[in-house]
Amino acid sequence: MSKFPEFVLGLALSLALTGAAMAQDAPDTADAATDALNLTEANAAEVKAATEAEADDAAADDAAGGEGSGAGKVLHLGRAALPEEVAAWDIDVRPDGTGLPEGQGSVEDGEVLFSDTCASCHGEFGEGVDRWPTLAGGIGTLADQDPDKTLGSYWPYLSTAYDYIHRAMPFGDAQSLEPDEIYAMLAYILNMNDIVDDDFVLSRENFLTVEMPNADGFFRDDRDEVELPELTQAPCMESCKDTAPEITRHASILDVTPDTPDDGAESPPPMQ
Ligand code: HEC
Repeated sequence: MSKFPEFVLGLALSLALTGAAMAQDAPDTADAATDALNLTEANAAEVKAATEAEADDAAADDAAGGEGSGAGKVLHLGRAALPEEVAAWDIDVRPDGTGLPEGQGSVEDGEVLFSDTCASCHGEFGEGVDRWPTLAGGIGTLADQDPDKTLGSYWPYLSTAYDYIHRAMPFGDAQSLEPDEIYAMLAYILNMNDIVDDDFVLSRENFLTVEMPNADGFFRDDRDEVELPELTQAPCMESCKDTAPEITRHASILDVTPDTPDDGAESPPPMQ
């Protein structure tokens, strides 16, 4: 006799068992998701309060009969961000040093760290491997035909460099570096650019004393005061000149009008 019926029975049984296991899995998965969110009781209370406040806003909004563009309306999307989430995004370092963490690092330590973590792309001396960016050199070339813009030659603020390295490097493993490591590697990059000596130690305390060569190479964007008033004036559409217009030149003098059919015009393609 064939073993077929036994096989079908076995298959049906195992499917039934899998189904049961899956049904059991569901609550576990939900628990895991809650754990992953890592909501402490305090956090949960905060989220609840924020959500309730939002609901109140929505009620007020509905009561006002808010029609129109939707500006200022509560859209009933998402939830209020937790303080931890805000802190995770709030990592900017500003030119006045705001946002810099406590820490320090020497050129010497930075050289080793840079060699291990950054040199595969940026080169041992910041010269850039293949087409990866160059981090050193180019000082004094900005007015050249082909300027070499590097952290040393071009960047006006050291704070941008700290912020950038912390935020984005090493490429593919962003935000993995500790403050001391960033201070050290930045010290080494400054040293490669001849901005600081070999024995320099960069820290939060002396950060603002470092003078970037191109610090004065930028000016404040004044287009709002200078260009915008010019460009937003109503254009003159009639009687714009005090005197009558005067013809000073003709197109033929400017030589834009061909004198003869052949003049300046390419001969038409031969008829086929
Ligand atoms: C896998 C390759 C890679 C590694 C490793 C790497 N970088 Fe970068 N780095 C890049 C790329 C690509 C860019 C340009 C990214 C862009 O322009 O969007 C860049 C840009 C930079 C810049 C800005 C350069 C400029 O003038 O615009 C700095 C500074 C920098 N990296 C520092 C570092 C430091 C410090 C490390 C080591 C911690 C590091 N990088 C490791 C690939 C890498």
